[in-house]
Amino acid sequence: MKILLMADAGIKKAAFKKAAQQIKGTVEVIVEEITEYGMEALQVIETEGADAVPVPAGMLKHTDVDVLVGSITTPLSKKILDRFPNLRIIGLCRAGIENIDMEEVDRRGIVVVNGLGRNAEAVSDMTMAIMLSELRNVARSYKDLTTDPNSWRKEWPSTPYLPHMADCKVGIFGFGMIGRLVAKKCAGFGSELLICDPFVDDEIIKGFGYKSVSKEDLFKESDIITIHARFVEETKGIVGRKEIESMKPTAYFINTARAGLIDNDALLEALVNHKIGGAALDVFPEEPLPADSLWRKLDNCTVTAHMAGGVMAARDYAAKLVVGAVLATIKGEKVPQLVTKDTVDKDEYKTWAEEAEKEFF
Ligand SMILES: NC(=O)c1ccc[n+]([C@@H]2O[C@H](COP(=O)([O-])OP(=O)(O)OC[C@H]3O[C@@H](n4cnc5c(N)ncnc54)[C@H](O)[C@@H]3O)[C@@H](O)[C@H]2O)c1
Repeated sequence: MKILLMADAGIKKAAFKKAAQQIKGTVEVIVEEITEYGMEALQVIETEGADAVPVPAGMLKHTDVDVLVGSITTPLSKKILDRFPNLRIIGLCRAGIENIDMEEVDRRGIVVVNGLGRNAEAVSDMTMAIMLSELRNVARSYKDLTTDPNSWRKEWPSTPYLPHMADCKVGIFGFGMIGRLVAKKCAGFGSELLICDPFVDDEIIKGFGYKSVSKEDLFKESDIITIHARFVEETKGIVGRKEIESMKPTAYFINTARAGLIDNDALLEALVNHKIGGAALDVFPEEPLPADSLWRKLDNCTVTAHMAGGVMAARDYAAKLVVGAVLATIKGEKVPQLVTKDTVDKDEYKTWAEEAEKEFF
């Protein structure tokens, strides 16, 4: 059996070679790279489809592979899939799957695994960074010292109530990939964790040693509230005026998820009128922030340019994550990255996976 790992301008060959170290069996591992185009192809694939970019020559050298792990810009249209008759599993190092002709994949019974959670570490780190920056006036002091040569300012609006992380109740709204990592990182600081996620069993939350609470209690009781729910039709504006107005006057509001989850007017009003302790935001209703945006002018809000997920380490991690998820899938585990949940139960795939397990492990 053979597995092809396709690097590109975003995820380099070295990252795939490292990721391939997880494969311990006799399967032949091939690493190729897309050289025909750069990362601009992602936009083309997303808007015009995978056939709008040239077929990478490196891919076509190995059309007899059983497993293909694509990077961010690997095109997997019907035209390309037609060249790969033995393909059983496709891994893709991004959460979106616009690169793949899913109808064709379903017709052929090919299993698809994506890169869900590939930047969870990056976003959770950034959440901690802007949270702590706001709590301790880090960005504010830096800006002050570097723009005013005479300043040595130590007092800020939040100075009278600056907390210890260890004394804070941190409310996590959305206990998915990122929410869980933020919870773990806050627990490391000694904070008490309150969790609100109606789709996660209370027992699971208790198992982590955290407390499952209602949205109402989360907003009323927390000293720091951090948003990690997904933005879908049902969660649009789910954090409304009522929730924001119920926050403690010293509480902090952190959002690295999506602005659409929040009533941003209510949040802005609370900050302008100093009704809450402060906020730290990586996401905004309008991006880039307009020049005259009020979000740029607040003295109690740390702002960053929607950059929580964008670190190089997250790209390399994607290769490791997806190769690992492919291996787990071959073993029969239903990992969160498994997109085609039904295909793995089909007899033809199962027979192949039994054989594959002998060669991949
Ligand atoms: N700032 C950035 O650069 C950046 C990068 C990546 C992801 N994100 C965002 O981070 C957020 C979290 O991503 P993730 O990978 O952890 O997603 P995830 O799908 O793993 O987790 C989302 C969680 O939200 C929960 N949820 C759904 N409806 C809810 C509700 N009504 N109340 C409370 N919880 C609810 C789900 O049950 C799930 O556990 C998403 O909004 C994503 O778009 C931001």
